[in-house]
Amino acid sequence: MKLPVLILVGALLASGVQAQPARISDKGLIVDGKPFLVLGGEVGNSSVSDPKQMGPVFDKARAIGLNTLVVPVEWDQIEPVEGQFDFTVTDALIAEAKARDLKLVILWFGAWKNSMSTYAPAWVKTDQKRFTRARSAEGVAQDILTPFDDDLLKADVKAFSTFMAHLKQADPAGVVIMVQIENEIGMLPSARDHSDLATKQFMVTRDTEERFQARSYAKFVEAMAKAGKAQYDLPMYVNAALNRPGKLPGEYPSAGPLPHLFDIWKGVAPSLDMLSPDIYFPDFVERMKPYSFKGNPLFIPEAHYAGDAVASANAFYAIGELDAIGFSPFSIENLPDGDPLISAYAVLDSLAPLIHAQRGKETMRGLKAPINYDGVTDTTPQVFELGGYQFTAAFIDPWTAKDKQVPGNHGALIIQTGKDEFIVAGSGVTLTFADTGKERIGMEQVVEGTYENGVFVPGKWLNGDQTHQGRHLRLPPDKWGVQRLKLYRYN
Ligand code: DGJ
Repeated sequence: MKLPVLILVGALLASGVQAQPARISDKGLIVDGKPFLVLGGEVGNSSVSDPKQMGPVFDKARAIGLNTLVVPVEWDQIEPVEGQFDFTVTDALIAEAKARDLKLVILWFGAWKNSMSTYAPAWVKTDQKRFTRARSAEGVAQDILTPFDDDLLKADVKAFSTFMAHLKQADPAGVVIMVQIENEIGMLPSARDHSDLATKQFMVTRDTEERFQARSYAKFVEAMAKAGKAQYDLPMYVNAALNRPGKLPGEYPSAGPLPHLFDIWKGVAPSLDMLSPDIYFPDFVERMKPYSFKGNPLFIPEAHYAGDAVASANAFYAIGELDAIGFSPFSIENLPDGDPLISAYAVLDSLAPLIHAQRGKETMRGLKAPINYDGVTDTTPQVFELGGYQFTAAFIDPWTAKDKQVPGNHGALIIQTGKDEFIVAGSGVTLTFADTGKERIGMEQVVEGTYENGVFVPGKWLNGDQTHQGRHLRLPPDKWGVQRLKLYRYN
């Protein structure tokens, strides 16, 4: 940035004028005018609901090197009486984050949280005349409000847009970078709501029950997003509770933003920037792939419970292979001391400028042995081409006893930084090389190092035993690190 521009931005901030709001572009998530990689964590549902007790959660986030906390805002807390808003908790969240130079993603726990409507204020929940409940196929009333009810839509839209208007004036520094609308929307215990309101409309549809229900949720969310963005135009998304294999609609939270319903969610809710997966299943790689496509940058708001040892490898794969804009394990305040995610995030943070520069190019790959739904890891070496070289990535570390390693937790990313030069970062992955033509390939140099302000800072030179006398590049499985690799051809 040139000096006068810097002075102008500084002056605007000092005068309390709004910073440039975060936005999604073809360069990914843009925060404060620059690409931003969310190295985040989502807090437990109730952990930051009391300003007096939220400090330690933010301290922990800072200490483990997050740049973003994903936090709920509860409708029942901010509008306890209809039309009377209390933003004490919201303001405390912003202040705590700002004090530690953290960004926030806000989860709007409104009409629905994990299918249910427990975060709706008492004046909504208890007024059954005004706010219609969803019913099961047997006609049993659920603790779920129906999306077919205009009164509910009006009330949630009013609360959400009042919240967004407040955010705009309460957060001039742009601490909040994205907003999730509702949480894991999905109908249970039947594929659609069977209230009279819903059934009347279902009679005249040709949709399946689940598609019918999805259309109604998506319509509701679209109205929320439009109204919210009219107040303050931040990136907005919805998250999905993924379905287990073999389950039928109604047996899983149905009608949410699941891959088989993308056409409805994208078509009916175009104001959303993303549909995002919450992934707690072992087949993480396969689960995230469908959510990464043009017009839908991959953001994973819930990626396992914090402390799951596979998280770092999944983060490297998501970012390296699928251009993810962010990753965020759940209940991050419970991350054990010394968890590997801390050093994995530190490496990703240092590489962020380099990672951003690869977006839209064919110069970066993510590497991870896929795990299936039953937890079985496919350790077959993976062959890929980059920069005219053929690489083979092996996930079983050759120099660690088999019973002392978990190949499913190994992962890496590789970035081409020059004609014959690559940055390789990760843990537990070993690379070997071949020419895509006839020549032989040698390693000119391998150097361990760090990235600082976008520049590689060399450390130990790796050679001899450390490269198997020039045969491979090895990322040891006991740490997350960076190596610079230079190759050459001979014949
Ligand atoms: C998914 C939900 O979205 C979260 O809010 C939380 O309830 C977790 N499940 C797990 O407890």
